[in-house]
Amino acid sequence: MNKENNSPNSRREFVKQGSIIAGGLIAAPLLSQANYFSGAVGEIKVALVGCGGRGTGAAMQALLTKQNVKLVAMADAFRDRLDGCYKTLTADDISDWGGGKGNVKQKVDVPEERKYTGFDGYKKAIAHADVVILTTPPGFRPIHFEEAINQGKHVFMEKPVATDPAGIKKVLDAAEIAKQKKLNVVVGLQRHYQNSYRELYKRKDKIGDITSAQAWWNNDGVWVNARKAGQTEMEYQMRNWYYFVWLCGDHIAEQHIHNIDVVNWFKGAYPVKAQGMGGRQVRKGKDHGEIFDHHYVEFTYADGSILNSQCRHIPGTMSKVDELLIGTKGTIKCGAANITTRDGKIIYQFDKKTENDPYQTEHDELFAAIEKGEYKFADGENGAKSTMTSILGRMATYSGQVVDWDKAINSGINIMPKTYDWAAAPPVLPDADGFYPVPVPGKVKYF
Ligand SMILES: NC(=O)c1ccc[n+]([C@@H]2O[C@H](COP(=O)([O-])OP(=O)(O)OC[C@H]3O[C@@H](n4cnc5c(N)ncnc54)[C@H](O)[C@@H]3O)[C@@H](O)[C@H]2O)c1
Repeated sequence: MNKENNSPNSRREFVKQGSIIAGGLIAAPLLSQANYFSGAVGEIKVALVGCGGRGTGAAMQALLTKQNVKLVAMADAFRDRLDGCYKTLTADDISDWGGGKGNVKQKVDVPEERKYTGFDGYKKAIAHADVVILTTPPGFRPIHFEEAINQGKHVFMEKPVATDPAGIKKVLDAAEIAKQKKLNVVVGLQRHYQNSYRELYKRKDKIGDITSAQAWWNNDGVWVNARKAGQTEMEYQMRNWYYFVWLCGDHIAEQHIHNIDVVNWFKGAYPVKAQGMGGRQVRKGKDHGEIFDHHYVEFTYADGSILNSQCRHIPGTMSKVDELLIGTKGTIKCGAANITTRDGKIIYQFDKKTENDPYQTEHDELFAAIEKGEYKFADGENGAKSTMTSILGRMATYSGQVVDWDKAINSGINIMPKTYDWAAAPPVLPDADGFYPVPVPGKVKYF
């Protein structure tokens, strides 16, 4: 139950993933459809940027909505990833992807001239669409989101939405422009679109004021893509992106954001500071870049309440992906989907038979709004601030210092490369033995 939705069949396993401080829903003024999509009568055109596991899944979910949706353009850094995705989307049978409804191939209209590769392909793909799906590694999200909003497109983008404070600022600025332009933005913090979380959220006042919370993403970890002969350093890092902070944000951002975000959502606030500890004890080979394999962070909110957050990628250890909120009158257990009094009496139990697939619901609700000409979703700001929370936690574990939200978000720290080119040097390089520098608490200083 703690796998992400990036592989065939994993949609069946989701059951508990997470979305918005503002509740996802905003006032929904009806606009003229002409403002909203440009295609032939009723056709909503989609471009996919980032054609990996999640991009393939998200494109499929967009094409499985009730609306007349067509995939018209695709962009990926690598041609083989784009081809793999195209093959899946045009297959006769997509049941392995959990679609279970035959296929979506009639809805894929991406001829060779609308398949784009390399670092700049996104701009061209975005130009063809009404709605853009952004599913690359998160380091690129700020520039891709900014471009989509500048081009006046609705957006579905995956979490996290950045890997550094400079990226967060870019996303917050673009989210503000999206609001002015009334462009719907959904962020893949899918618990906001999941029935159990929505029902718990509606009843959160039953537990009084939330005074503390716990969040876990503890499991085995993820794939490794070993170095291949002939790859430039940039290509190697792009293929093995999980292990590089500029691309991934470390797993506290890449996965644990889901749980941290739930606590922010239920609290209706973001932490003011964080301190914590972490390191790499098991996953520390040449293939494992620079990220930690465990983080433990104490986040403090303005009202003094604490979120204890832990995430670990170590095989053979306790596996748990969940959130717990403790209030003055009771407790919300998200995994169990119930609410208890302080003495343990269950006062609300969500009926798990009524659980939905939030990955599909994100798209169902987004495309229904777009079809009706409604401006309904502004997830960008929360997506950025929950991503910032996870970055704050990472800054705390890397430095071993107490890190202040305002200082961090306004720091301008930018860890992205200056140049995007296969021959360019990424921001972090291996030593002569092939090992990457790993953050050392006490030595890393941000301010
Ligand atoms: N909400 C969820 O449960 C969930 C589940 C899985 C993944 N995700 C998120 O989706 C994103 C992608 O994850 P994934 O598992 O699909 O990874 P992936 O490696 O399978 O796919 C990423 C794709 O993006 C491409 N890419 C990289 N840089 C690019 C660029 N600059 N321009 C165009 N394409 C580029 C890669 O070549 C690759 O094909 C991540 O942010 C991840 O956190 C979310």
